[in-house]
Amino acid sequence: VKVFIPRDAAALAVGADDVAAALLAECQCRGLSLELVRNGSRGLLWLETLVEVQTPQGRVAYGPVEPADVPGLLDAGLLSGGAHPLCHGLTEQIPYLALQERLSFRRVGVTDPLSLADYEAHEGWAGLRKALQLDGAGIVAEITHSGLRGRGGAAFPAGIKWRTVLQTEARQKYIVCNADEGDSGTFADRMVMEGDPYMLIEGMAIAGLAVGADRGYVYVRSEYPHAIAALNEAIARATAAGFLGANLLGSGRDFHLEVRKGAGSYVCGEETALLESLEGKRGVVRAKPPLPAIQGLFGQPTVINNVLTFAAAPLILARGAQFYRDHGVGRSHGTLPFQLAGNIKHGGLVEKAFGLTLRELLYGFGGGTATGRPIKAVQVGGPLGAYVPESQWDVPLDYEAYAAMGAVLGHGGIVVHDDTADLSQLARYAMEFCAIESCGKCTPCRIGSTRGVEVIDRIRRDEQREQQVHLLRDLCDTLLHGSLCAMGGMTPYPVLSALNHYPQDFGLTSTPKL
Ligand code: NAI
Ligand code: SF4
Repeated sequence: VKVFIPRDAAALAVGADDVAAALLAECQCRGLSLELVRNGSRGLLWLETLVEVQTPQGRVAYGPVEPADVPGLLDAGLLSGGAHPLCHGLTEQIPYLALQERLSFRRVGVTDPLSLADYEAHEGWAGLRKALQLDGAGIVAEITHSGLRGRGGAAFPAGIKWRTVLQTEARQKYIVCNADEGDSGTFADRMVMEGDPYMLIEGMAIAGLAVGADRGYVYVRSEYPHAIAALNEAIARATAAGFLGANLLGSGRDFHLEVRKGAGSYVCGEETALLESLEGKRGVVRAKPPLPAIQGLFGQPTVINNVLTFAAAPLILARGAQFYRDHGVGRSHGTLPFQLAGNIKHGGLVEKAFGLTLRELLYGFGGGTATGRPIKAVQVGGPLGAYVPESQWDVPLDYEAYAAMGAVLGHGGIVVHDDTADLSQLARYAMEFCAIESCGKCTPCRIGSTRGVEVIDRIRRDEQREQQVHLLRDLCDTLLHGSLCAMGGMTPYPVLSALNHYPQDFGLTSTPKL
Protein backbone atom coordinates (compact mmCIF):
# COMPACT_ATOMS: atom_id res chain seq x y z
CA VAL A 1 0.00 0.00 0.00
CA LYS A 2 1.32 3.43 -0.94
CA VAL A 3 0.89 6.12 1.70
CA PHE A 4 1.79 9.76 1.09
CA ILE A 5 2.88 12.14 3.86
CA PRO A 6 4.32 15.50 2.78
CA ARG A 7 7.86 16.58 3.47
CA ASP A 8 6.91 20.16 2.59
CA ALA A 9 8.09 22.69 5.19
CA ALA A 10 4.49 23.71 6.03
CA ALA A 11 3.62 20.09 6.83
CA LEU A 12 6.86 19.60 8.76
CA ALA A 13 6.01 22.68 10.81
CA VAL A 14 2.87 20.98 12.10
CA GLY A 15 4.55 17.64 12.77
CA ALA A 16 4.50 15.63 9.51
CA ASP A 17 7.73 13.85 10.46
CA ASP A 18 6.19 12.75 13.76
CA VAL A 19 3.09 11.48 11.97
CA ALA A 20 5.25 9.54 9.52
CA ALA A 21 7.31 8.04 12.34
CA ALA A 22 4.17 7.12 14.31
CA LEU A 23 2.62 5.46 11.26
CA LEU A 24 5.74 3.42 10.46
CA ALA A 25 6.14 2.31 14.09
CA GLU A 26 2.47 1.38 14.51
CA CYS A 27 2.41 -0.53 11.22
CA GLN A 28 5.50 -2.43 12.25
CA CYS A 29 3.86 -3.40 15.57
CA ARG A 30 0.79 -4.62 13.72
CA GLY A 31 2.76 -6.43 11.03
CA LEU A 32 1.31 -4.20 8.29
CA SER A 33 3.46 -3.29 5.30
CA LEU A 34 3.32 -0.01 3.47
CA GLU A 35 5.37 2.09 1.06
CA LEU A 36 5.73 5.60 2.46
CA VAL A 37 6.24 8.42 -0.07
CA ARG A 38 7.23 11.84 1.23
CA ASN A 39 5.48 14.03 -1.33
CA GLY A 40 5.07 17.77 -1.69
CA SER A 41 2.06 19.45 -0.10
CA ARG A 42 -1.30 19.58 -1.89
CA GLY A 43 -1.51 23.11 -0.53
CA LEU A 44 -4.58 22.55 1.66
CA LEU A 45 -2.67 23.88 4.60
CA TRP A 46 -5.42 23.67 7.21
CA LEU A 47 -5.53 19.90 6.60
CA GLU A 48 -1.82 19.36 7.21
CA THR A 49 -0.59 16.87 8.15
CA LEU A 50 -2.53 15.39 5.23
CA VAL A 51 -2.10 11.64 4.93
CA GLU A 52 -3.13 10.09 1.62
CA VAL A 53 -3.62 6.42 0.89
CA GLN A 54 -3.57 4.95 -2.60
CA THR A 55 -6.71 2.88 -3.30
CA PRO A 56 -8.07 1.41 -6.55
CA GLN A 57 -10.49 4.39 -6.73
CA GLY A 58 -7.74 6.97 -6.24
CA ARG A 59 -6.05 8.57 -3.27
CA VAL A 60 -8.08 8.95 -0.09
CA ALA A 61 -7.22 11.90 2.15
CA TYR A 62 -7.08 12.12 5.95
CA GLY A 63 -6.33 15.30 7.84
CA PRO A 64 -5.28 17.08 9.87
CA VAL A 65 -3.57 14.02 11.34
CA GLU A 66 -1.68 14.12 14.64
CA PRO A 67 0.62 11.27 15.74
CA ALA A 68 -1.97 10.31 18.39
CA ASP A 69 -4.58 9.75 15.66
CA VAL A 70 -2.55 7.00 13.99
CA PRO A 71 -3.74 3.94 15.99
CA GLY A 72 -7.40 4.95 15.58
CA LEU A 73 -6.90 5.54 11.86
CA LEU A 74 -5.36 2.10 11.43
CA ASP A 75 -8.22 0.57 13.45
CA ALA A 76 -10.60 2.22 10.99
CA GLY A 77 -8.78 0.66 8.04
CA LEU A 78 -6.61 3.58 6.95
CA LEU A 79 -4.55 1.41 4.61
CA SER A 80 -7.59 0.51 2.55
CA GLY A 81 -9.14 3.99 2.63
CA GLY A 82 -11.55 3.22 5.50
CA ALA A 83 -14.08 5.68 6.92
CA HIS A 84 -12.97 7.89 9.82
CA PRO A 85 -13.95 11.36 11.09
CA LEU A 86 -10.67 12.71 9.63
CA CYS A 87 -11.38 11.20 6.19
CA HIS A 88 -12.19 13.62 3.36
CA GLY A 89 -12.84 11.04 0.66
CA LEU A 90 -10.93 11.10 -2.60
CA THR A 91 -8.32 13.85 -2.53
CA GLU A 92 -9.01 14.97 -6.08
CA GLN A 93 -12.69 15.48 -5.22
CA ILE A 94 -12.10 17.84 -2.29
CA PRO A 95 -13.74 21.01 -3.67
CA TYR A 96 -10.75 23.20 -2.78
CA LEU A 97 -8.64 21.09 -5.15
CA ALA A 98 -11.30 20.06 -7.66
CA LEU A 99 -12.19 23.70 -8.41
CA GLN A 100 -8.61 24.71 -9.20
CA GLU A 101 -6.89 24.84 -12.58
CA ARG A 102 -3.56 23.36 -11.67
CA LEU A 103 -1.03 23.80 -14.43
CA SER A 104 2.21 24.69 -12.67
CA PHE A 105 1.14 22.74 -9.58
CA ARG A 106 -0.24 19.72 -11.41
CA ARG A 107 2.48 17.43 -10.03
CA VAL A 108 2.99 19.08 -6.63
CA GLY A 109 1.71 16.72 -3.93
CA VAL A 110 1.08 14.08 -6.58
CA THR A 111 4.57 12.83 -7.34
CA ASP A 112 7.58 11.90 -5.27
CA PRO A 113 9.51 15.19 -5.66
CA LEU A 114 12.94 13.64 -6.13
CA SER A 115 11.95 10.61 -8.19
CA LEU A 116 13.14 11.06 -11.76
CA ALA A 117 10.97 8.14 -12.86
CA ASP A 118 7.86 9.73 -11.33
CA TYR A 119 8.70 13.07 -12.94
CA GLU A 120 9.15 11.50 -16.33
CA ALA A 121 5.90 9.53 -15.95
CA HIS A 122 4.05 12.81 -15.34
CA GLU A 123 5.08 14.79 -18.43
CA GLY A 124 8.55 15.54 -17.07
CA TRP A 125 11.24 16.67 -19.55
CA ALA A 126 8.70 16.84 -22.40
CA GLY A 127 9.24 20.60 -22.60
CA LEU A 128 13.02 20.24 -22.62
CA ARG A 129 12.84 17.60 -25.35
CA LYS A 130 10.66 19.93 -27.42
CA ALA A 131 13.03 22.83 -26.79
CA LEU A 132 15.96 20.75 -28.06
CA GLN A 133 14.17 20.43 -31.40
CA LEU A 134 13.87 24.23 -31.74
CA ASP A 135 16.42 26.98 -32.14
CA GLY A 136 16.63 29.83 -29.62
CA ALA A 137 14.29 32.08 -31.58
CA GLY A 138 11.78 29.24 -31.85
CA ILE A 139 11.70 28.74 -28.08
CA VAL A 140 11.41 32.47 -27.47
CA ALA A 141 8.54 32.62 -29.97
CA GLU A 142 6.65 29.95 -28.01
CA ILE A 143 7.16 31.78 -24.70
CA THR A 144 6.14 35.08 -26.28
CA HIS A 145 3.02 33.64 -27.87
CA SER A 146 1.96 31.97 -24.61
CA GLY A 147 1.59 35.45 -23.09
CA LEU A 148 3.58 34.41 -20.02
CA ARG A 149 4.44 37.42 -17.86
CA GLY A 150 6.91 37.61 -14.98
CA ARG A 151 5.34 35.91 -11.99
CA GLY A 152 7.64 37.60 -9.45
CA GLY A 153 5.21 40.47 -9.44
CA ALA A 154 6.13 42.97 -12.14
CA ALA A 155 4.38 40.96 -14.91
CA PHE A 156 6.86 41.96 -17.61
CA PRO A 157 6.43 39.75 -20.73
CA ALA A 158 8.87 36.86 -20.35
CA GLY A 159 9.26 36.41 -24.11
CA ILE A 160 10.47 40.00 -24.56
CA LYS A 161 12.97 39.60 -21.74
CA TRP A 162 14.30 36.33 -23.18
CA ARG A 163 14.47 37.84 -26.67
CA THR A 164 16.56 40.75 -25.37
CA VAL A 165 19.09 38.30 -23.92
CA LEU A 166 19.04 36.13 -27.05
CA GLN A 167 19.76 39.14 -29.25
CA THR A 168 22.55 40.55 -27.05
CA GLU A 169 25.92 39.29 -28.25
CA ALA A 170 28.21 37.94 -25.53
CA ARG A 171 30.58 35.03 -24.94
CA GLN A 172 28.90 34.18 -21.63
CA LYS A 173 25.23 34.54 -20.68
CA TYR A 174 23.47 33.49 -17.50
CA ILE A 175 20.11 32.27 -16.28
CA VAL A 176 19.27 33.37 -12.75
CA CYS A 177 16.25 32.27 -10.79
CA ASN A 178 14.93 34.67 -8.19
CA ALA A 179 13.84 32.35 -5.39
CA ASP A 180 14.17 34.99 -2.69
CA GLU A 181 10.42 34.81 -2.11
CA GLY A 182 10.24 37.54 0.52
CA ASP A 183 6.65 38.73 0.28
CA SER A 184 4.56 38.27 3.38
CA GLY A 185 2.05 35.46 2.99
CA THR A 186 3.71 33.89 -0.04
CA PHE A 187 4.95 30.33 -0.33
CA ALA A 188 4.30 29.19 -3.92
CA ASP A 189 7.97 29.30 -4.95
CA ARG A 190 8.92 27.26 -1.91
CA MET A 191 6.24 24.67 -2.64
CA VAL A 192 7.54 24.25 -6.19
CA MET A 193 11.16 23.90 -5.09
CA GLU A 194 10.27 21.37 -2.41
CA GLY A 195 7.43 19.60 -4.21
CA ASP A 196 8.52 19.56 -7.86
CA PRO A 197 12.13 20.75 -8.14
CA TYR A 198 12.72 19.15 -11.56
CA MET A 199 10.09 21.46 -13.06
CA LEU A 200 12.18 24.51 -12.10
CA ILE A 201 15.36 22.82 -13.32
CA GLU A 202 13.69 21.99 -16.64
CA GLY A 203 12.36 25.54 -17.02
CA MET A 204 15.78 27.06 -16.42
CA ALA A 205 17.42 24.64 -18.86
CA ILE A 206 14.83 25.64 -21.48
CA ALA A 207 15.67 29.31 -20.84
CA GLY A 208 19.36 28.48 -21.26
CA LEU A 209 18.70 26.81 -24.60
CA ALA A 210 16.52 29.76 -25.65
CA VAL A 211 19.06 32.50 -25.09
CA GLY A 212 22.35 30.61 -25.42
CA ALA A 213 23.33 30.49 -21.74
CA ASP A 214 25.13 27.42 -20.41
CA ARG A 215 25.17 28.38 -16.75
CA GLY A 216 22.48 29.16 -14.22
CA TYR A 217 22.01 29.97 -10.54
CA VAL A 218 19.04 29.61 -8.24
CA TYR A 219 19.21 32.29 -5.56
CA VAL A 220 17.19 30.89 -2.66
CA ARG A 221 16.47 32.73 0.57
CA SER A 222 18.26 31.28 3.58
CA GLU A 223 14.94 30.81 5.36
CA TYR A 224 14.17 27.94 2.96
CA PRO A 225 16.58 25.15 4.05
CA HIS A 226 14.26 22.38 2.85
CA ALA A 227 13.95 23.93 -0.60
CA ILE A 228 17.72 24.33 -0.81
CA ALA A 229 18.26 20.66 0.15
CA ALA A 230 15.62 19.44 -2.33
CA LEU A 231 17.08 21.51 -5.15
CA ASN A 232 20.65 20.41 -4.50
CA GLU A 233 19.61 16.76 -4.49
CA ALA A 234 17.47 17.21 -7.61
CA ILE A 235 20.32 18.96 -9.44
CA ALA A 236 22.70 16.11 -8.56
CA ARG A 237 20.24 13.45 -9.74
CA ALA A 238 19.27 15.32 -12.92
CA THR A 239 22.93 15.85 -13.77
CA ALA A 240 23.74 12.18 -13.23
CA ALA A 241 20.84 11.23 -15.49
CA GLY A 242 21.89 13.59 -18.31
CA PHE A 243 19.12 16.21 -17.97
CA LEU A 244 21.59 18.83 -16.74
CA GLY A 245 25.30 19.53 -17.11
CA ALA A 246 27.35 18.75 -20.20
CA ASN A 247 25.75 17.39 -23.36
CA LEU A 248 22.06 17.67 -22.36
CA LEU A 249 20.27 14.50 -23.45
CA GLY A 250 23.07 13.90 -25.96
CA SER A 251 22.35 17.18 -27.76
CA GLY A 252 25.83 18.61 -27.49
CA ARG A 253 24.38 21.56 -25.52
CA ASP A 254 25.41 22.27 -21.91
CA PHE A 255 23.54 23.72 -18.98
CA HIS A 256 25.10 23.79 -15.52
CA LEU A 257 23.04 24.81 -12.53
CA GLU A 258 23.97 25.74 -8.97
CA VAL A 259 22.10 26.88 -5.87
CA ARG A 260 23.16 30.00 -3.98
CA LYS A 261 21.83 30.86 -0.54
CA GLY A 262 20.73 34.41 0.30
CA ALA A 263 21.31 36.00 3.66
CA GLY A 264 17.92 37.18 4.83
CA SER A 265 17.55 40.55 3.13
CA TYR A 266 14.21 41.49 1.58
CA VAL A 267 15.78 43.86 -0.92
CA CYS A 268 17.90 41.02 -2.33
CA GLY A 269 14.67 39.92 -4.01
CA GLU A 270 15.03 43.06 -6.15
CA GLU A 271 16.78 41.77 -9.23
CA THR A 272 19.84 44.02 -9.29
CA ALA A 273 20.48 43.71 -5.54
CA LEU A 274 20.18 39.94 -6.01
CA LEU A 275 22.80 40.04 -8.75
CA GLU A 276 25.13 42.06 -6.51
CA SER A 277 24.64 39.49 -3.76
CA LEU A 278 25.29 36.61 -6.21
CA GLU A 279 28.53 38.31 -7.16
CA GLY A 280 29.54 38.22 -3.50
CA LYS A 281 28.88 41.89 -2.79
CA ARG A 282 26.52 43.67 -0.42
CA GLY A 283 22.95 43.54 -1.71
CA VAL A 284 22.51 47.13 -2.85
CA VAL A 285 20.24 48.08 -5.74
CA ARG A 286 21.91 49.03 -9.03
CA ALA A 287 20.50 51.82 -11.16
CA LYS A 288 18.72 50.65 -14.35
CA PRO A 289 19.58 50.96 -17.21
CA PRO A 290 21.54 48.92 -18.01
CA LEU A 291 18.92 46.20 -17.73
CA PRO A 292 20.08 42.80 -16.45
CA ALA A 293 19.00 41.40 -19.83
CA ILE A 294 21.88 43.40 -21.33
CA GLN A 295 24.34 43.66 -18.45
CA GLY A 296 23.37 41.38 -15.61
CA LEU A 297 25.39 38.88 -13.61
CA PHE A 298 29.10 39.74 -13.81
CA GLY A 299 28.14 42.29 -16.44
CA GLN A 300 26.85 39.65 -18.86
CA PRO A 301 23.39 39.31 -20.47
CA THR A 302 21.19 37.55 -17.93
CA VAL A 303 17.67 36.17 -17.86
CA ILE A 304 16.47 36.73 -14.32
CA ASN A 305 12.99 35.43 -13.59
CA ASN A 306 10.97 34.21 -10.65
CA VAL A 307 10.56 30.48 -9.86
CA LEU A 308 6.99 30.41 -11.18
CA THR A 309 7.97 32.04 -14.47
CA PHE A 310 10.59 29.38 -15.22
CA ALA A 311 8.24 26.70 -13.88
CA ALA A 312 5.63 27.62 -16.51
CA ALA A 313 8.06 27.13 -19.41
CA PRO A 314 8.12 23.29 -19.55
CA LEU A 315 4.32 23.11 -19.84
CA ILE A 316 4.22 25.84 -22.50
CA LEU A 317 6.77 23.98 -24.60
CA ALA A 318 5.22 20.57 -23.99
CA ARG A 319 1.58 21.49 -24.67
CA GLY A 320 2.10 24.45 -26.96
CA ALA A 321 1.85 28.19 -26.37
CA GLN A 322 -1.81 28.35 -27.35
CA PHE A 323 -2.82 25.94 -24.58
CA TYR A 324 -1.35 28.27 -21.96
CA ARG A 325 -2.60 31.41 -23.69
CA ASP A 326 -6.16 30.09 -23.67
CA HIS A 327 -6.26 30.40 -19.89
CA GLY A 328 -6.92 33.78 -18.30
CA VAL A 329 -8.48 37.07 -19.35
CA GLY A 330 -7.37 40.15 -21.30
CA ARG A 331 -3.60 40.43 -21.32
CA SER A 332 -3.25 38.20 -18.26
CA HIS A 333 -2.73 34.77 -19.78
CA GLY A 334 -2.30 31.50 -17.96
CA THR A 335 -2.77 30.84 -14.29
CA LEU A 336 -1.55 32.39 -11.06
CA PRO A 337 -0.94 30.30 -7.95
CA PHE A 338 -2.68 32.50 -5.35
CA GLN A 339 -1.56 32.06 -1.79
CA LEU A 340 -4.23 32.54 0.88
CA ALA A 341 -2.77 33.55 4.23
CA GLY A 342 -3.33 35.62 7.33
CA ASN A 343 -6.67 35.43 9.14
CA ILE A 344 -8.32 32.90 6.81
CA LYS A 345 -10.10 29.67 7.65
CA HIS A 346 -8.79 27.61 4.75
CA GLY A 347 -5.37 29.00 3.98
CA GLY A 348 -3.35 27.45 1.20
CA LEU A 349 -2.46 27.43 -2.43
CA VAL A 350 -5.11 28.07 -5.09
CA GLU A 351 -3.94 27.95 -8.70
CA LYS A 352 -6.55 29.49 -10.97
CA ALA A 353 -6.63 31.20 -14.34
CA PHE A 354 -6.66 35.01 -14.09
CA GLY A 355 -10.13 36.48 -14.00
CA LEU A 356 -11.71 35.11 -10.84
CA THR A 357 -12.52 37.60 -8.11
CA LEU A 358 -11.07 38.19 -4.70
CA ARG A 359 -14.47 37.44 -3.19
CA GLU A 360 -14.46 33.98 -4.80
CA LEU A 361 -11.02 33.35 -3.38
CA LEU A 362 -11.82 34.65 0.10
CA TYR A 363 -15.13 32.87 0.56
CA GLY A 364 -15.34 30.18 -2.14
CA PHE A 365 -11.92 28.81 -1.30
CA GLY A 366 -10.89 30.48 1.94
CA GLY A 367 -14.17 30.06 3.82
CA GLY A 368 -13.92 33.52 5.44
CA THR A 369 -11.75 34.37 8.41
CA ALA A 370 -10.27 31.88 10.85
CA THR A 371 -11.69 33.95 13.71
CA GLY A 372 -15.18 33.88 12.20
CA ARG A 373 -15.34 37.70 12.26
CA PRO A 374 -16.04 39.76 9.13
CA ILE A 375 -13.15 40.39 6.76
CA LYS A 376 -12.16 44.03 6.87
CA ALA A 377 -9.14 44.39 4.62
CA VAL A 378 -7.10 42.20 2.32
CA GLN A 379 -3.56 42.97 1.33
CA VAL A 380 -2.91 41.64 -2.15
CA GLY A 381 0.60 41.41 -3.58
CA GLY A 382 2.85 41.31 -0.54
CA PRO A 383 3.94 43.96 1.95
CA LEU A 384 4.17 46.53 -0.84
CA GLY A 385 0.68 45.74 -2.13
CA ALA A 386 -2.47 47.75 -1.53
CA TYR A 387 -5.17 46.98 1.04
CA VAL A 388 -8.26 46.10 -0.95
CA PRO A 389 -11.61 47.02 0.65
CA GLU A 390 -14.83 45.06 0.15
CA SER A 391 -16.08 47.48 -2.51
CA GLN A 392 -13.32 46.12 -4.80
CA TRP A 393 -13.61 42.41 -4.11
CA ASP A 394 -15.59 41.77 -7.29
CA VAL A 395 -12.95 43.21 -9.61
CA PRO A 396 -11.44 40.39 -11.69
CA LEU A 397 -7.98 39.36 -10.60
CA ASP A 398 -5.97 40.39 -13.61
CA TYR A 399 -2.91 42.60 -13.87
CA GLU A 400 -4.57 45.47 -15.71
CA ALA A 401 -7.79 45.55 -13.66
CA TYR A 402 -5.75 45.72 -10.47
CA ALA A 403 -3.42 48.38 -11.82
CA ALA A 404 -6.47 50.45 -12.77
CA MET A 405 -7.60 50.57 -9.15
CA GLY A 406 -4.14 51.43 -7.81
CA ALA A 407 -3.36 47.91 -6.61
CA VAL A 408 -1.10 45.05 -7.71
CA LEU A 409 -1.42 41.28 -7.96
CA GLY A 410 2.31 40.94 -7.38
CA HIS A 411 3.35 37.39 -6.65
CA GLY A 412 -0.22 36.35 -5.74
CA GLY A 413 0.10 36.68 -1.97
CA ILE A 414 -3.20 37.42 -0.21
CA VAL A 415 -3.18 38.33 3.48
CA VAL A 416 -6.55 38.65 5.19
CA HIS A 417 -7.44 40.82 8.20
CA ASP A 418 -10.67 40.76 10.19
CA ASP A 419 -12.58 43.75 11.59
CA THR A 420 -10.28 44.06 14.60
CA ALA A 421 -7.44 45.27 12.34
CA ASP A 422 -6.36 48.90 12.71
CA LEU A 423 -5.33 50.06 9.25
CA SER A 424 -3.39 53.05 10.58
CA GLN A 425 -1.21 50.58 12.46
CA LEU A 426 -0.77 48.49 9.31
CA ALA A 427 0.15 51.63 7.35
CA ARG A 428 2.71 52.45 10.03
CA TYR A 429 4.06 48.92 9.69
CA ALA A 430 4.50 49.39 5.94
CA MET A 431 6.69 52.46 6.55
CA GLU A 432 8.59 50.68 9.32
CA PHE A 433 9.17 47.67 7.07
CA CYS A 434 10.56 49.96 4.40
CA ALA A 435 12.84 51.65 6.94
CA ILE A 436 14.17 48.28 8.13
CA GLU A 437 14.63 46.73 4.69
CA SER A 438 15.78 49.81 2.74
CA CYS A 439 19.16 49.25 1.11
CA GLY A 440 19.92 52.90 1.79
CA LYS A 441 20.94 53.85 -1.73
CA CYS A 442 18.36 56.56 -2.35
CA THR A 443 17.07 59.31 -0.09
CA PRO A 444 13.26 59.04 -0.44
CA CYS A 445 13.30 55.47 0.76
CA ARG A 446 16.15 55.64 3.27
CA ILE A 447 14.95 58.79 5.02
CA GLY A 448 11.35 59.06 3.85
CA SER A 449 10.36 55.77 5.42
CA THR A 450 11.58 56.80 8.86
CA ARG A 451 9.83 60.18 8.52
CA GLY A 452 6.75 58.25 7.40
CA VAL A 453 6.64 56.28 10.64
CA GLU A 454 6.90 59.53 12.62
CA VAL A 455 4.16 61.24 10.61
CA ILE A 456 1.77 58.31 11.01
CA ASP A 457 2.52 58.28 14.74
CA ARG A 458 1.55 61.94 14.94
CA ILE A 459 -1.65 61.27 13.00
CA ARG A 460 -2.49 58.43 15.35
CA ARG A 461 -1.83 60.69 18.37
CA ASP A 462 -3.95 63.44 16.77
CA GLU A 463 -1.11 65.98 16.70
CA GLN A 464 -2.08 68.44 13.94
CA ARG A 465 -3.82 65.55 12.25
CA GLU A 466 -5.08 67.28 9.07
CA GLN A 467 -1.69 68.87 8.39
CA GLN A 468 0.14 65.59 9.01
CA VAL A 469 -2.17 63.73 6.62
CA HIS A 470 -1.26 66.28 3.99
CA LEU A 471 2.42 65.71 4.78
CA LEU A 472 1.97 61.94 4.56
CA ARG A 473 0.47 62.28 1.09
CA ASP A 474 3.37 64.50 -0.02
CA LEU A 475 5.85 62.01 1.38
CA CYS A 476 4.14 59.13 -0.42
CA ASP A 477 4.24 61.11 -3.63
CA THR A 478 8.01 61.57 -3.22
CA LEU A 479 8.53 57.88 -2.45
CA LEU A 480 6.37 56.83 -5.38
CA HIS A 481 8.15 58.96 -7.95
CA GLY A 482 11.62 59.43 -6.48
CA SER A 483 12.69 55.95 -5.40
CA LEU A 484 15.17 53.89 -7.33
CA CYS A 485 13.35 50.58 -6.90
CA ALA A 486 10.00 49.07 -5.90
CA MET A 487 10.94 48.93 -2.20
CA GLY A 488 10.52 52.68 -1.75
CA GLY A 489 8.42 53.09 -4.87
CA MET A 490 5.63 50.79 -3.73
CA THR A 491 5.54 51.42 0.02
CA PRO A 492 2.91 54.14 -0.65
CA TYR A 493 0.53 51.44 -1.96
CA PRO A 494 -0.33 49.95 1.43
CA VAL A 495 -0.08 53.35 3.14
CA LEU A 496 -2.33 55.30 0.78
CA SER A 497 -4.85 52.48 0.31
CA ALA A 498 -5.20 52.26 4.09
CA LEU A 499 -5.64 56.01 4.36
CA ASN A 500 -8.06 56.27 1.45
CA HIS A 501 -10.27 53.29 2.21
CA TYR A 502 -10.16 53.28 6.02
CA PRO A 503 -9.95 57.00 7.02
CA GLN A 504 -11.77 56.29 10.28
CA ASP A 505 -8.76 54.25 11.45
CA PHE A 506 -6.66 57.41 11.13
CA GLY A 507 -9.16 59.39 13.20
CA LEU A 508 -10.53 61.16 10.12
CA THR A 509 -14.25 61.73 9.99
CA SER A 510 -14.63 62.55 6.31
CA THR A 511 -13.41 60.32 3.50
CA PRO A 512 -10.43 62.11 1.93
CA LYS A 513 -10.30 62.77 -1.79
CA LEU A 514 -8.93 59.59 -3.44
P1 NAI B 1 10.31 46.28 -13.25
O1 NAI B 1 9.02 46.67 -13.85
O2 NAI B 1 11.38 47.29 -13.12
O3 NAI B 1 10.94 45.11 -14.14
C1 NAI B 1 10.34 43.94 -14.46
C2 NAI B 1 11.34 43.06 -15.17
O4 NAI B 1 11.39 43.34 -16.56
C3 NAI B 1 12.77 43.19 -14.71
O5 NAI B 1 13.38 41.93 -14.73
C4 NAI B 1 13.42 44.10 -15.74
O6 NAI B 1 14.79 43.93 -15.82
C5 NAI B 1 12.72 43.60 -16.97
N1 NAI B 1 12.65 44.53 -18.10
C6 NAI B 1 12.05 45.74 -18.12
N2 NAI B 1 12.14 46.27 -19.36
C7 NAI B 1 12.79 45.37 -20.13
C8 NAI B 1 13.18 45.32 -21.51
N3 NAI B 1 12.89 46.30 -22.35
N4 NAI B 1 13.84 44.22 -21.95
C9 NAI B 1 14.10 43.21 -21.10
N5 NAI B 1 13.76 43.20 -19.80
C10 NAI B 1 13.11 44.26 -19.32
O7 NAI B 1 9.97 45.62 -11.86
P2 NAI B 1 10.90 45.05 -10.71
O8 NAI B 1 11.49 46.18 -9.93
O9 NAI B 1 11.85 44.02 -11.24
O10 NAI B 1 9.87 44.26 -9.80
C11 NAI B 1 8.90 44.94 -9.04
C12 NAI B 1 7.86 43.95 -8.63
O11 NAI B 1 8.39 42.98 -7.77
C13 NAI B 1 6.71 44.56 -7.90
O12 NAI B 1 5.63 44.75 -8.79
C14 NAI B 1 6.37 43.57 -6.81
O13 NAI B 1 5.08 43.03 -7.02
C15 NAI B 1 7.37 42.49 -6.97
N6 NAI B 1 7.92 42.02 -5.70
C16 NAI B 1 7.93 40.66 -5.52
C17 NAI B 1 8.43 40.10 -4.36
C18 NAI B 1 8.40 38.60 -4.17
O14 NAI B 1 8.67 38.10 -3.06
N7 NAI B 1 8.11 37.83 -5.20
C19 NAI B 1 8.98 40.95 -3.31
C20 NAI B 1 8.93 42.34 -3.60
C21 NAI B 1 8.42 42.85 -4.77
FE1 SF4 C 1 17.45 51.01 -1.87
FE2 SF4 C 1 15.04 51.83 -1.06
FE3 SF4 C 1 16.27 53.15 -2.96
FE4 SF4 C 1 15.32 50.68 -3.44
S1 SF4 C 1 14.10 52.49 -3.01
S2 SF4 C 1 17.32 51.55 -4.04
S3 SF4 C 1 15.68 49.75 -1.42
S4 SF4 C 1 16.99 52.93 -0.83
